[in-house]
Amino acid sequence: MKWAVISTWKMSLEGCRKAADLLAQGKPASEALIVGIEDVEDNAGFTSVGFGGLPALDGHVYLDGGYMDGDTLRFGAVGALEGFRSPIRIARSLADREFNNFLVGEGAGEYALKNGFEQRDNLTEESRKRWEAEKNKSQKLVSYDGHDTVCFLAKDQNASICAGVSTSGLFLKETGRIGDSPVCGSGYYADSAIGAAAATGVGEEIMKGILSHTAVMYMNAGMRAQEAAEKAVLDLDLQLNRRNGSCDAISLITLDRHGNFGVGTNIVFPFVYACEEKEPKLYLARREGNHCIYEQVDDITTVKQD
Ligand code: GLY
Repeated sequence: MKWAVISTWKMSLEGCRKAADLLAQGKPASEALIVGIEDVEDNAGFTSVGFGGLPALDGHVYLDGGYMDGDTLRFGAVGALEGFRSPIRIARSLADREFNNFLVGEGAGEYALKNGFEQRDNLTEESRKRWEAEKNKSQKLVSYDGHDTVCFLAKDQNASICAGVSTSGLFLKETGRIGDSPVCGSGYYADSAIGAAAATGVGEEIMKGILSHTAVMYMNAGMRAQEAAEKAVLDLDLQLNRRNGSCDAISLITLDRHGNFGVGTNIVFPFVYACEEKEPKLYLARREGNHCIYEQVDDITTVKQD
């Protein structure tokens, strides 16, 4: 396949269409991926990413984002960033530097301001109301109601592969908490000579298995994208169940260097895929025994997602 793109959750459908159009025109994977992710970051209707994202316990919306260039293995990331429009665009710019590639909190904000990135208060009236209603209830932190992190993996017509992710992280997280998403190797990994992977779900679980890098190494050892994704997820699920008695929601997308995709999940997990031969379509994946299976669906409004 000359080009291909895969992205997480139904919320990425429109962004995936935009990314697919750019890849079909011969644009670089990095550009397509940023356009795709920004489409989600800018939509206040998607409550776990960017504008209108899920507030932390202190009522502020802190965003995490990560980017990796599979040609150079350079990566950039921001964590606990407040007040800017596009964590993915800032993360992408940090990948061009030799050092200081992963910035968090005030330092990330200072960098973004100094380099002219667009500012935005991401706390909408709706996200503030959600915080107000839930902040005093004691609740277990979970990935949010079938959304969580938007992840894109893209392969362009020059065979370059990139990975990118963006999220507001877990609802009512503690101030300063950073999940898997901006952590290279856990939340995302890309190597154009092998393929790429990116994760969504509960970051504290995903980081225990360094999930994205693990799946890429499985592909390097000869596994197909689908085998690599399901082995990475289901092995971690098994280990955490054995050792801790449970494993929270984890899902993983993979893309090999030919543009074939894979998906691993321990929940019911929607994703979007497009390539030269296939227009962007929504798919629904679920675990079945020791495998993960998926089917193309027209909509998921009637399907329970997690
Ligand atoms: N996967 C997103 C997070 O745990 O923050």
